[in-house]
Parts: sequence; C-alpha cells; structure tokens
Amino acid sequence: MKSTEHWLVHDHTQIEDLLRHCCEEAEIYDWWALERYFTEFIDQLRYHMAQEEEVLYPAYDARRAPEHMFTDDLYDDHNRIIETIRKIHRLIEIQQKEGLVELFKELVDVMFDHNQKEEHVFLPFASHLLCEDRDELSEKLDNFTLSKKSRAWGV
Ligand SMILES: [Fe+2]
Ligand SMILES: [Fe+2]
Repeated sequence: MKSTEHWLVHDHTQIEDLLRHCCEEAEIYDWWALERYFTEFIDQLRYHMAQEEEVLYPAYDARRAPEHMFTDDLYDDHNRIIETIRKIHRLIEIQQKEGLVELFKELVDVMFDHNQKEEHVFLPFASHLLCEDRDELSEKLDNFTLSKKSRAWGV
C-alpha cells in the first residue's frame, strides 16, 4: 500500500521476479522457457520504463530546482539496461550459450541497482516534490499507453 507521502513509490517486484526466472532458465539453457519469460519481462519493462521516461521523469524535471538530483543518471541506467537486453536477445535468437549467463548477471546488477535508487531515493523525493500534481500525474500514469513516440528498443 502506498502511503500518502510516498504516493509515487512503486515496487519492481513483478519485473524482478521475471528476471529471476530468466536467469534460472538461462543457467539450464531451457530455450523455450527462457524465451517465454524473457518476452514477458521485456513487455512489462518496456511499458514501465516508457511510463517513467514519458510521464514521470519529465514531470519531475519540470519542477526540479537546480540543486535537486538530476534524472540523467536514471536515463543512463535505462540505456544500459536496454543495451544489455539487446545483447541477450541476440544470443537467445541464435541459442548461443557462451556469454549468456554473464550477460544476465550484468543485467541483474544494473537493474536491481537502478530499482533501489528509484525506490529509496528518487521516488520518495519526487513524491514530495510533485505532490501538487498528484491527481493529474496519477491519472496519466494509470491511463498510459505505448505509442509510436515511445523509445524503440530494437527487440
Ligand atoms: Fe526506471
Ligand atoms: Fe521504476
């Protein structure tokens, strides 16, 4: 349950669980199961990141004072996550075992670190900074849909 002061804080449990399943299947090279989990993981993450990049981060940047934390770091994390996903996607397509587990480890590290940063630093602060925009922003996030303007992942 979201508290009033932390209304923006979202947990990433579902997405992290899917990634854990991917890692388990990658370790035993069950390509069929891996592809299923990886597709679901990408679909959920694509939507989630687009909500952040198209609604949440811009709303924050519009209110942010010069001394407040920048979103650049968060965008950089997203870039690294997508880049790693592209590499993994290529390996799964050709069912190449070499390097697969290592890439998943890399993805886990960068994604869990990013999620912690959002859950413990960025989102609590943004909840406070954007409290006046709460209704409008909540509606936008709830009704968000991907569009042609959304970032192309190439996967
Ligand atoms: Fe994010
Ligand atoms: Fe997030």
